[in-house]
Amino acid sequence: MSAATFIPPAARADARRLQLDAEGNLRHFLTIDGLDRALLTEILDRAEGFLGVARQAVKKVPLCRGKIIANLFFENSTRTRTTFELAAKRLSADVLNLNIGASATAKGETLLDTLRNLEAMHVDMFVVRHADSGAAQFIAEHAAPRISVINAGDGRHAHPTQGMLDMFTIRQHKGGFADLTVAIVGDLLHSRVARSQLAALHTLGTREVRIIAPRTLIPARAAEVFGVRVFHDLDAGIADADVIIMLRLQRERMDGAFLPSEHEYFHLFGLTERRLFMAKPDVIVMHPGPINRGVEMDSQVADGARSVILEQVSNGLAVRMAVMSMCIGTQNLALAAATPPGAGHA
Ligand code: CP
Repeated sequence: MSAATFIPPAARADARRLQLDAEGNLRHFLTIDGLDRALLTEILDRAEGFLGVARQAVKKVPLCRGKIIANLFFENSTRTRTTFELAAKRLSADVLNLNIGASATAKGETLLDTLRNLEAMHVDMFVVRHADSGAAQFIAEHAAPRISVINAGDGRHAHPTQGMLDMFTIRQHKGGFADLTVAIVGDLLHSRVARSQLAALHTLGTREVRIIAPRTLIPARAAEVFGVRVFHDLDAGIADADVIIMLRLQRERMDGAFLPSEHEYFHLFGLTERRLFMAKPDVIVMHPGPINRGVEMDSQVADGARSVILEQVSNGLAVRMAVMSMCIGTQNLALAAATPPGAGHA
């Protein structure tokens, strides 16, 4: 098993143990792997309830009032960072956006020293994006026990809020998962998004999941490990699909010649309107962004009637509100249990 392909099973077990409290409440959100259907459904239902906040005159609820949430993005991001910030503000939290490039990490300060300093400012939650698989788990293991950590994407490992916002979008359009054929197309080898989607689709009981890519971009033993059907032909893979999820080519994580050229990749695996006719007439087309137009799909599909790509972004806000409010709720339970009766304000 390649270390680049999978997180070791022991580390995955540690993540499962770490992210729930003794009663099964969400303390951290590091990976979808190992979470049960009831918890994933609770996240989706809670997010559903937050959709209406965007339509309120005052777009705020007080669930995280008085809490401090720090965004630590060691890798670039547009959608994830901004929706986490907006979600935290809609929950009435105070938000710190650490500009890593302009921070003391650029002078050599270690990650742990950065954490200790933020802890000294009484931060309640770290939202972490990092190029190394396992970084969010490392921070959860080393942060003060009262602090929650949310993984906003770590290396090739996981991007659990993206996985859940994708499930939310699918449920919104299709009503559930039991009757669906979902096709995931593209760079599965390097995709943390795909790993989170595969875990969620499996747990939510999707009828059939297919992965479609050149042989060089499919992880070893994918059919066995992920319980999916593997295709190397796009037309065959998307035939009669209800949902098509296109993935970005992760050039920044490719350390070898995985593809002859982007032109040839588009010719073989790029989604076009002509190819879309292979899928069901009411198919939805998804992409986590950022899109490489003319590489993964053409603009007619990206901006077309079957595309729900911008809905995914809107839904990300509600899903991130759900996850953050659940973790803060778990912190509040722990705080109440540790506070002696009558110890509140006079
Ligand atoms: N989907 C996603 O993670 O996009 P960003 O890199 O812009 O956050």
